[in-house]
Amino acid sequence: MSRLNNRHIILAISGGIAAYKSAELVRLLIKSGAQVQVVMTSGAIEFITPLTLQALSGNPVHQHLLNPQAEAGMGHIQLARWADLLLIAPASANVMARLAQGQANDLLTTLCLATDAPVLLAPAMNQAMWQDQATQDNLQTLQARGLQIHGPAEGEQACGDIGAGRMLEPNELLAAVKAQFSQGLLDGKTVVITAGPTREAIDPVRYISNHSSGKMGYALAQAARDQGATVILISGPTQLAQPEDVTFVAVESAQDMLEASLKTGSSADYFIATAAVADYRPTIASEQKLKKQNADHGLTLELTQNPDILTTMSNQHPHVIHVGFAAETQDLILHAQDKLKRKGVHMIIANDVSNTDIGFNSDNNQVSLITSGGVEDLPLLSKHQLARQLIAAITRIPH
Ligand SMILES: Cc1cc2nc3c(=O)[nH]c(=O)nc-3n(C[C@H](O)[C@H](O)[C@H](O)COP(=O)(O)O)c2cc1C
Repeated sequence: MSRLNNRHIILAISGGIAAYKSAELVRLLIKSGAQVQVVMTSGAIEFITPLTLQALSGNPVHQHLLNPQAEAGMGHIQLARWADLLLIAPASANVMARLAQGQANDLLTTLCLATDAPVLLAPAMNQAMWQDQATQDNLQTLQARGLQIHGPAEGEQACGDIGAGRMLEPNELLAAVKAQFSQGLLDGKTVVITAGPTREAIDPVRYISNHSSGKMGYALAQAARDQGATVILISGPTQLAQPEDVTFVAVESAQDMLEASLKTGSSADYFIATAAVADYRPTIASEQKLKKQNADHGLTLELTQNPDILTTMSNQHPHVIHVGFAAETQDLILHAQDKLKRKGVHMIIANDVSNTDIGFNSDNNQVSLITSGGVEDLPLLSKHQLARQLIAAITRIPH
Protein backbone atom coordinates (compact mmCIF):
# COMPACT_ATOMS: atom_id res chain seq x y z
CA MET A 1 0.00 0.00 0.00
CA SER A 2 1.35 3.43 -0.93
CA ARG A 3 1.79 6.07 1.74
CA LEU A 4 -0.73 8.25 -0.10
CA ASN A 5 -3.36 5.52 -0.28
CA ASN A 6 -6.79 7.14 0.27
CA ARG A 7 -5.24 10.40 1.46
CA HIS A 8 -7.45 13.38 0.64
CA ILE A 9 -5.50 15.94 -1.32
CA ILE A 10 -6.81 19.27 -2.59
CA LEU A 11 -4.73 20.49 -5.50
CA ALA A 12 -5.41 24.21 -5.95
CA ILE A 13 -4.23 25.69 -9.23
CA SER A 14 -3.77 29.41 -9.77
CA GLY A 15 -3.15 31.44 -12.90
CA GLY A 16 0.35 30.81 -14.18
CA ILE A 17 2.03 29.14 -17.14
CA ALA A 18 3.14 26.24 -14.92
CA ALA A 19 -0.52 25.21 -14.57
CA TYR A 20 0.09 22.74 -17.42
CA LYS A 21 2.39 20.77 -15.10
CA SER A 22 -0.45 20.39 -12.60
CA ALA A 23 -2.17 17.90 -14.90
CA GLU A 24 0.80 15.55 -14.55
CA LEU A 25 0.83 16.18 -10.80
CA VAL A 26 -2.82 15.07 -10.53
CA ARG A 27 -1.95 11.92 -12.48
CA LEU A 28 0.97 11.13 -10.16
CA LEU A 29 -1.10 11.73 -7.01
CA ILE A 30 -3.89 9.47 -8.27
CA LYS A 31 -1.37 6.82 -9.28
CA SER A 32 0.02 6.92 -5.74
CA GLY A 33 -3.43 6.08 -4.37
CA ALA A 34 -4.53 9.59 -3.26
CA GLN A 35 -8.05 10.96 -3.69
CA VAL A 36 -7.75 14.32 -5.39
CA GLN A 37 -10.15 17.28 -5.59
CA VAL A 38 -9.00 20.06 -7.87
CA VAL A 39 -9.74 23.72 -7.16
CA MET A 40 -9.04 26.32 -9.85
CA THR A 41 -8.95 30.09 -9.69
CA SER A 42 -10.55 32.10 -12.46
CA GLY A 43 -6.98 32.86 -13.59
CA ALA A 44 -6.07 29.17 -13.77
CA ILE A 45 -8.84 28.24 -16.22
CA GLU A 46 -7.25 30.63 -18.74
CA PHE A 47 -4.20 28.34 -18.76
CA ILE A 48 -5.60 24.80 -18.57
CA THR A 49 -9.13 23.48 -18.94
CA PRO A 50 -11.11 22.14 -15.97
CA LEU A 51 -12.14 19.25 -18.23
CA THR A 52 -8.57 17.92 -18.34
CA LEU A 53 -8.29 18.04 -14.56
CA GLN A 54 -11.75 16.55 -14.07
CA ALA A 55 -10.81 13.62 -16.32
CA LEU A 56 -7.50 13.05 -14.53
CA SER A 57 -8.82 13.44 -10.97
CA GLY A 58 -12.09 11.60 -11.56
CA ASN A 59 -13.93 14.41 -9.72
CA PRO A 60 -15.69 17.60 -10.82
CA VAL A 61 -13.37 20.61 -10.59
CA HIS A 62 -14.27 23.23 -7.97
CA GLN A 63 -14.14 26.75 -9.39
CA HIS A 64 -16.65 28.91 -7.55
CA LEU A 65 -17.19 30.02 -3.99
CA LEU A 66 -20.54 31.68 -4.45
CA ASN A 67 -22.30 28.92 -6.32
CA PRO A 68 -25.52 27.51 -4.79
CA GLN A 69 -25.22 24.30 -6.78
CA ALA A 70 -21.64 23.64 -5.67
CA GLU A 71 -22.59 24.42 -2.08
CA ALA A 72 -25.34 21.81 -2.27
CA GLY A 73 -22.67 19.27 -3.20
CA MET A 74 -19.33 19.60 -1.49
CA GLY A 75 -19.36 23.15 -0.19
CA HIS A 76 -16.28 25.11 0.78
CA ILE A 77 -16.33 24.18 4.47
CA GLN A 78 -16.93 20.53 3.71
CA LEU A 79 -14.08 20.60 1.21
CA ALA A 80 -11.82 22.28 3.78
CA ARG A 81 -12.67 19.55 6.32
CA TRP A 82 -12.27 16.76 3.74
CA ALA A 83 -8.66 17.71 3.00
CA ASP A 84 -5.70 15.94 4.60
CA LEU A 85 -3.46 18.36 2.73
CA LEU A 86 -3.89 21.39 0.49
CA LEU A 87 -1.27 21.95 -2.19
CA ILE A 88 -1.30 25.16 -4.23
CA ALA A 89 0.62 24.47 -7.43
CA PRO A 90 1.34 26.71 -9.13
CA ALA A 91 1.00 29.45 -6.53
CA SER A 92 0.93 32.77 -8.38
CA ALA A 93 2.29 36.04 -7.00
CA ASN A 94 -1.31 37.17 -6.80
CA VAL A 95 -2.39 34.18 -4.68
CA MET A 96 0.58 34.68 -2.36
CA ALA A 97 -0.41 38.32 -1.89
CA ARG A 98 -4.04 37.48 -1.24
CA LEU A 99 -3.12 34.74 1.25
CA ALA A 100 -0.66 37.02 3.03
CA GLN A 101 -3.48 39.53 3.52
CA GLY A 102 -5.84 36.82 4.76
CA GLN A 103 -8.31 37.49 1.98
CA ALA A 104 -11.23 35.15 1.34
CA ASN A 105 -12.37 36.49 -1.99
CA ASP A 106 -12.47 33.20 -3.92
CA LEU A 107 -12.68 29.47 -3.24
CA LEU A 108 -8.91 28.90 -2.99
CA THR A 109 -8.22 31.63 -0.44
CA THR A 110 -11.34 30.80 1.58
CA LEU A 111 -10.30 27.15 1.77
CA CYS A 112 -6.87 28.14 3.06
CA LEU A 113 -8.48 30.01 5.94
CA ALA A 114 -11.02 27.29 6.64
CA THR A 115 -8.82 24.21 6.60
CA ASP A 116 -6.84 22.69 9.47
CA ALA A 117 -4.80 20.63 7.00
CA PRO A 118 -1.20 21.55 6.15
CA VAL A 119 -0.98 24.03 3.28
CA LEU A 120 1.89 23.67 0.81
CA LEU A 121 2.71 26.29 -1.82
CA ALA A 122 4.71 25.74 -5.00
CA PRO A 123 5.36 29.28 -6.24
CA ALA A 124 5.88 29.82 -9.96
CA MET A 125 6.40 33.17 -11.60
CA ASN A 126 8.78 35.35 -13.57
CA GLN A 127 12.08 35.76 -11.72
CA ALA A 128 11.62 39.54 -11.33
CA MET A 129 8.16 39.01 -9.84
CA TRP A 130 9.67 36.50 -7.40
CA GLN A 131 12.53 38.84 -6.43
CA ASP A 132 10.19 41.79 -5.94
CA GLN A 133 10.16 42.99 -2.35
CA ALA A 134 6.37 42.70 -2.13
CA THR A 135 6.51 38.98 -3.05
CA GLN A 136 9.43 38.38 -0.69
CA ASP A 137 7.54 40.10 2.15
CA ASN A 138 4.47 37.97 1.41
CA LEU A 139 6.67 34.87 1.39
CA GLN A 140 7.99 35.68 4.85
CA THR A 141 4.50 36.32 6.19
CA LEU A 142 3.23 33.01 4.84
CA GLN A 143 6.24 31.08 6.15
CA ALA A 144 5.84 32.69 9.57
CA ARG A 145 2.23 31.47 9.63
CA GLY A 146 3.36 27.89 9.03
CA LEU A 147 2.54 27.53 5.36
CA GLN A 148 5.17 25.41 3.66
CA ILE A 149 6.91 26.77 0.59
CA HIS A 150 8.39 24.30 -1.92
CA GLY A 151 10.58 25.92 -4.57
CA PRO A 152 10.73 27.77 -6.79
CA ALA A 153 13.59 26.23 -8.75
CA GLU A 154 16.10 28.19 -10.82
CA GLY A 155 16.45 27.90 -14.55
CA GLU A 156 15.16 29.05 -17.90
CA GLN A 157 11.65 30.46 -17.77
CA ALA A 158 8.75 30.47 -20.24
CA CYS A 159 9.29 34.22 -20.76
CA GLY A 160 12.96 33.65 -21.68
CA ASP A 161 14.40 34.97 -18.40
CA ILE A 162 16.81 32.89 -16.38
CA GLY A 163 16.55 32.83 -12.58
CA ALA A 164 14.47 31.65 -9.64
CA GLY A 165 10.78 31.24 -10.38
CA ARG A 166 10.19 27.87 -12.05
CA MET A 167 7.67 25.61 -10.34
CA LEU A 168 9.19 22.40 -8.97
CA GLU A 169 8.64 19.38 -11.21
CA PRO A 170 5.54 17.23 -10.56
CA ASN A 171 7.63 14.32 -9.21
CA GLU A 172 9.38 16.68 -6.75
CA LEU A 173 6.03 17.98 -5.55
CA LEU A 174 4.75 14.41 -5.25
CA ALA A 175 7.75 13.66 -3.00
CA ALA A 176 6.97 16.77 -0.91
CA VAL A 177 3.36 15.61 -0.48
CA LYS A 178 4.45 12.08 0.42
CA ALA A 179 6.93 13.44 2.94
CA GLN A 180 4.01 15.04 4.84
CA PHE A 181 2.61 11.61 5.51
CA SER A 182 5.84 9.85 6.14
CA GLN A 183 7.34 9.00 9.39
CA GLY A 184 8.60 5.92 7.71
CA LEU A 185 10.65 3.38 9.63
CA LEU A 186 13.06 3.35 6.70
CA ASP A 187 13.22 7.04 5.76
CA GLY A 188 16.60 7.75 4.17
CA LYS A 189 17.57 4.04 4.03
CA THR A 190 18.35 1.96 0.95
CA VAL A 191 16.95 -1.55 0.89
CA VAL A 192 18.10 -4.07 -1.72
CA ILE A 193 15.86 -7.09 -2.24
CA THR A 194 16.40 -10.12 -4.46
CA ALA A 195 13.30 -11.99 -5.62
CA GLY A 196 11.98 -14.74 -7.83
CA PRO A 197 13.75 -17.75 -9.30
CA THR A 198 16.94 -17.80 -11.34
CA ARG A 199 17.30 -19.58 -14.69
CA GLU A 200 20.44 -21.56 -15.40
CA ALA A 201 20.90 -22.15 -19.12
CA ILE A 202 21.34 -25.68 -20.46
CA ASP A 203 21.29 -24.49 -24.06
CA PRO A 204 19.70 -21.48 -25.84
CA VAL A 205 16.15 -22.79 -25.29
CA ARG A 206 16.30 -24.79 -22.05
CA TYR A 207 17.11 -23.97 -18.47
CA ILE A 208 17.00 -25.25 -14.90
CA SER A 209 14.76 -23.21 -12.60
CA ASN A 210 12.31 -23.56 -9.70
CA HIS A 211 8.75 -22.69 -8.67
CA SER A 212 9.47 -19.40 -6.89
CA SER A 213 6.80 -16.82 -7.80
CA GLY A 214 8.62 -13.77 -6.43
CA LYS A 215 5.51 -12.72 -4.46
CA MET A 216 7.25 -12.45 -1.09
CA GLY A 217 10.14 -10.35 -2.44
CA TYR A 218 7.82 -8.02 -4.36
CA ALA A 219 5.58 -7.59 -1.28
CA LEU A 220 8.66 -6.75 0.81
CA ALA A 221 9.78 -4.22 -1.82
CA GLN A 222 6.40 -2.47 -1.59
CA ALA A 223 6.38 -2.56 2.22
CA ALA A 224 9.93 -1.14 2.42
CA ARG A 225 9.00 1.59 -0.09
CA ASP A 226 5.91 2.47 1.96
CA GLN A 227 8.16 2.93 5.00
CA GLY A 228 10.15 5.54 3.08
CA ALA A 229 13.06 3.40 1.83
CA THR A 230 14.77 3.73 -1.50
CA VAL A 231 14.25 0.22 -2.83
CA ILE A 232 16.26 -1.71 -5.40
CA LEU A 233 14.48 -4.90 -6.44
CA ILE A 234 16.73 -7.40 -8.23
CA SER A 235 14.40 -9.95 -9.76
CA GLY A 236 14.66 -13.16 -11.69
CA PRO A 237 11.90 -13.85 -14.25
CA THR A 238 8.40 -13.66 -12.68
CA GLN A 239 4.82 -13.07 -13.83
CA LEU A 240 4.39 -10.12 -11.44
CA ALA A 241 3.97 -6.43 -12.29
CA GLN A 242 6.95 -4.27 -11.31
CA PRO A 243 6.11 -2.38 -8.09
CA GLU A 244 5.88 1.40 -8.54
CA ASP A 245 8.53 3.78 -7.19
CA VAL A 246 11.07 0.97 -6.93
CA THR A 247 14.30 0.64 -8.94
CA PHE A 248 13.86 -2.62 -10.81
CA VAL A 249 16.81 -4.70 -12.03
CA ALA A 250 15.86 -7.72 -14.16
CA VAL A 251 18.28 -10.66 -14.09
CA GLU A 252 18.24 -14.28 -15.29
CA SER A 253 20.98 -16.42 -13.76
CA ALA A 254 22.44 -16.69 -10.25
CA GLN A 255 25.65 -15.12 -11.50
CA ASP A 256 23.74 -12.13 -12.96
CA MET A 257 21.96 -11.76 -9.63
CA LEU A 258 25.22 -11.85 -7.69
CA GLU A 259 26.79 -9.19 -9.92
CA ALA A 260 23.73 -6.93 -9.63
CA SER A 261 23.70 -7.42 -5.83
CA LEU A 262 27.41 -6.65 -5.39
CA LYS A 263 26.99 -3.40 -7.36
CA THR A 264 24.48 -2.14 -4.77
CA GLY A 265 26.60 -3.14 -1.76
CA SER A 266 28.23 0.22 -1.14
CA SER A 267 24.92 2.14 -1.01
CA ALA A 268 22.73 -0.48 0.74
CA ASP A 269 21.68 -0.34 4.37
CA TYR A 270 19.72 -3.62 4.18
CA PHE A 271 20.11 -6.61 1.87
CA ILE A 272 17.14 -8.98 1.92
CA ALA A 273 17.64 -12.18 -0.06
CA THR A 274 14.26 -13.71 -0.88
CA ALA A 275 15.21 -15.06 -4.32
CA ALA A 276 15.20 -18.82 -4.80
CA VAL A 277 18.66 -18.93 -6.33
CA ALA A 278 19.59 -22.15 -8.13
CA ASP A 279 22.31 -23.94 -6.17
CA TYR A 280 23.76 -25.44 -9.34
CA ARG A 281 24.11 -24.50 -13.00
CA PRO A 282 25.09 -26.64 -15.97
CA THR A 283 28.91 -26.55 -16.15
CA ILE A 284 28.67 -25.88 -19.86
CA ALA A 285 25.72 -24.05 -21.37
CA SER A 286 25.64 -25.40 -24.94
CA GLU A 287 25.76 -22.64 -27.55
CA GLN A 288 23.55 -24.72 -29.87
CA LYS A 289 20.27 -26.41 -29.01
CA LEU A 290 21.02 -29.95 -27.77
CA LYS A 291 19.67 -32.59 -30.15
CA LYS A 292 17.70 -35.59 -28.93
CA GLN A 293 19.81 -38.75 -28.89
CA ASN A 294 18.76 -42.31 -29.82
CA ALA A 295 16.10 -43.74 -27.52
CA ASP A 296 18.61 -45.88 -25.60
CA HIS A 297 20.86 -42.90 -24.82
CA GLY A 298 20.15 -40.70 -21.82
CA LEU A 299 21.58 -37.23 -21.30
CA THR A 300 23.96 -36.52 -18.45
CA LEU A 301 24.33 -32.91 -17.36
CA GLU A 302 27.33 -31.91 -15.29
CA LEU A 303 26.45 -29.26 -12.75
CA THR A 304 28.67 -26.69 -11.04
CA GLN A 305 27.78 -25.05 -7.75
CA ASN A 306 26.69 -21.42 -8.00
CA PRO A 307 28.23 -18.80 -5.72
CA ASP A 308 26.20 -18.13 -2.55
CA ILE A 309 24.90 -14.59 -2.99
CA LEU A 310 24.04 -13.91 0.66
CA THR A 311 27.37 -15.22 1.99
CA THR A 312 29.33 -13.28 -0.65
CA MET A 313 27.41 -10.09 0.17
CA SER A 314 27.87 -10.48 3.93
CA ASN A 315 31.62 -11.09 3.47
CA GLN A 316 32.16 -8.20 1.07
CA HIS A 317 29.79 -5.66 2.63
CA PRO A 318 29.79 -6.32 6.38
CA HIS A 319 28.33 -2.85 7.14
CA VAL A 320 25.02 -3.90 5.54
CA ILE A 321 22.30 -5.66 7.55
CA HIS A 322 21.77 -9.02 5.84
CA VAL A 323 18.52 -10.95 5.98
CA GLY A 324 18.02 -14.36 4.37
CA PHE A 325 15.13 -16.72 3.81
CA ALA A 326 15.34 -20.44 4.51
CA ALA A 327 12.79 -22.58 2.69
CA GLU A 328 12.97 -26.02 4.27
CA THR A 329 10.92 -29.20 4.18
CA GLN A 330 12.17 -30.62 7.50
CA ASP A 331 13.91 -29.53 10.75
CA LEU A 332 13.06 -25.92 9.87
CA ILE A 333 14.46 -24.12 12.92
CA LEU A 334 17.61 -26.25 13.14
CA HIS A 335 18.50 -25.66 9.49
CA ALA A 336 17.69 -21.96 9.76
CA GLN A 337 19.89 -21.52 12.85
CA ASP A 338 22.71 -23.27 11.03
CA LYS A 339 22.22 -20.97 8.02
CA LEU A 340 22.30 -17.87 10.26
CA LYS A 341 25.77 -18.80 11.54
CA ARG A 342 27.18 -20.24 8.31
CA LYS A 343 26.25 -17.22 6.21
CA GLY A 344 27.11 -14.64 8.87
CA VAL A 345 23.77 -12.83 8.53
CA HIS A 346 21.61 -10.89 11.00
CA MET A 347 18.27 -12.63 10.51
CA ILE A 348 16.90 -15.73 8.82
CA ILE A 349 13.21 -15.86 7.96
CA ALA A 350 12.36 -19.54 7.93
CA ASN A 351 9.36 -21.09 6.22
CA ASP A 352 8.21 -24.66 5.70
CA VAL A 353 7.65 -25.21 1.96
CA SER A 354 6.39 -28.77 2.47
CA ASN A 355 3.08 -27.16 3.52
CA THR A 356 1.34 -26.18 0.25
CA ASP A 357 -0.89 -23.62 2.04
CA ILE A 358 2.18 -21.44 2.50
CA GLY A 359 5.47 -20.73 0.77
CA PHE A 360 6.08 -21.01 -3.00
CA ASN A 361 3.35 -19.53 -5.19
CA SER A 362 0.93 -19.21 -2.28
CA ASP A 363 -0.56 -15.83 -1.32
CA ASN A 364 -0.07 -16.65 2.36
CA ASN A 365 2.96 -17.43 4.41
CA GLN A 366 3.84 -18.39 7.95
CA VAL A 367 7.38 -17.86 9.10
CA SER A 368 9.69 -17.90 12.09
CA LEU A 369 12.27 -15.17 12.62
CA ILE A 370 15.66 -16.49 13.69
CA THR A 371 18.27 -14.13 15.09
CA SER A 372 21.19 -14.63 17.45
CA GLY A 373 18.74 -13.53 20.18
CA GLY A 374 16.28 -16.41 19.60
CA VAL A 375 13.24 -17.55 17.60
CA GLU A 376 10.01 -15.60 17.05
CA ASP A 377 7.04 -17.36 15.40
CA LEU A 378 4.66 -15.19 13.38
CA PRO A 379 1.05 -16.23 12.63
CA LEU A 380 -0.26 -17.25 9.16
CA LEU A 381 -0.59 -13.97 7.22
CA SER A 382 -1.07 -12.79 3.65
CA LYS A 383 2.28 -12.10 2.02
CA HIS A 384 1.49 -8.36 2.06
CA GLN A 385 0.60 -8.36 5.79
CA LEU A 386 3.64 -10.45 6.51
CA ALA A 387 5.86 -8.13 4.45
CA ARG A 388 4.80 -5.18 6.63
CA GLN A 389 5.58 -7.13 9.82
CA LEU A 390 8.92 -8.32 8.45
CA ILE A 391 9.97 -4.81 7.47
CA ALA A 392 9.13 -3.64 11.01
CA ALA A 393 11.11 -6.59 12.48
CA ILE A 394 14.08 -5.88 10.23
CA THR A 395 14.25 -2.26 11.41
CA ARG A 396 14.54 -3.52 15.00
CA ILE A 397 17.78 -5.42 14.26
CA PRO A 398 20.56 -3.55 16.12
CA HIS A 399 22.97 -1.98 13.64
C1 LIG B 1 0.56 34.66 -20.25
C2 LIG B 1 0.56 34.94 -18.78
C3 LIG B 1 1.34 34.17 -17.95
C4 LIG B 1 1.37 34.42 -16.57
N1 LIG B 1 2.14 33.64 -15.78
C5 LIG B 1 2.18 33.88 -14.44
C6 LIG B 1 3.01 33.11 -13.62
O1 LIG B 1 3.68 32.17 -14.06
N2 LIG B 1 3.01 33.39 -12.30
C7 LIG B 1 2.26 34.39 -11.76
O2 LIG B 1 2.32 34.59 -10.55
N3 LIG B 1 1.46 35.13 -12.53
C8 LIG B 1 1.41 34.92 -13.86
N4 LIG B 1 0.59 35.67 -14.66
C9 LIG B 1 -0.27 36.69 -14.03
C10 LIG B 1 -1.49 36.04 -13.38
O3 LIG B 1 -2.16 35.23 -14.31
C11 LIG B 1 -2.40 37.09 -12.80
O4 LIG B 1 -1.74 37.72 -11.72
C12 LIG B 1 -3.74 36.51 -12.32
O5 LIG B 1 -4.49 37.58 -11.77
C13 LIG B 1 -3.53 35.44 -11.29
O6 LIG B 1 -4.78 35.09 -10.74
P1 LIG B 1 -4.92 33.98 -9.63
O7 LIG B 1 -3.72 34.10 -8.79
O8 LIG B 1 -6.15 34.27 -8.91
O9 LIG B 1 -4.98 32.69 -10.35
C14 LIG B 1 0.58 35.46 -16.03
C15 LIG B 1 -0.24 36.20 -16.89
C16 LIG B 1 -0.23 35.96 -18.24
C17 LIG B 1 -1.11 36.80 -19.13
